[in-house]
Amino acid sequence: MQHRPVATLLSLTAPDGYNGDINLLVVVRDNGALAGVEVIGHRETPGLGDKIESGRSDWLQQFVGASLVNPPQTAWRVKRDGGYFDQLTGATVTPRAIVKAVQQVLAYLRDHGSDHFEFETDPITSSERIKLEGDKTS
Ligand SMILES: Cc1cc2nc3c(=O)[nH]c(=O)nc-3n(C[C@H](O)[C@H](O)[C@H](O)COP(=O)(O)O)c2cc1C
Repeated sequence: MQHRPVATLLSLTAPDGYNGDINLLVVVRDNGALAGVEVIGHRETPGLGDKIESGRSDWLQQFVGASLVNPPQTAWRVKRDGGYFDQLTGATVTPRAIVKAVQQVLAYLRDHGSDHFEFETDPITSSERIKLEGDKTS
């Protein structure tokens, strides 16, 4: 039995945050749209750049459903730079770094995505399957 992945999760670093690296997890669906972006590490300034954290504002929510065609590639910038994405009050550098990194990862997947969405042989071996099916009836 073969399974086709419906989404892929990538870990990446946006290197040009205000205080350096911002580490992100990005989940992209097989149709190229983002399922979500999460910040897993950063050193941005409390009260300014740290509002990227999902517990501090809903800033990351604007990536849900976005893709390289929505908004169009030229709009993958913060509003202050003429793009689609909100910046944060008093903090444009941090959002700029994340928008750029997420756009780059989507472009990477567009060019190399077949590796991530290939059919895979069922990872459950036949002996494990028998055990799982046995569990159901016991
Ligand atoms: C002490 C200090 C800490 C700052 N921390 C951040 C930060 O974490 N993220 C950020 O985007 N901007 C931060 N800023 C503000 C930036 O210097 C910049 O003014 C702001 O991001 C707007 O950028 P822009 O003029 O390119 O739009 C900080 C400024 C100071 C003085």
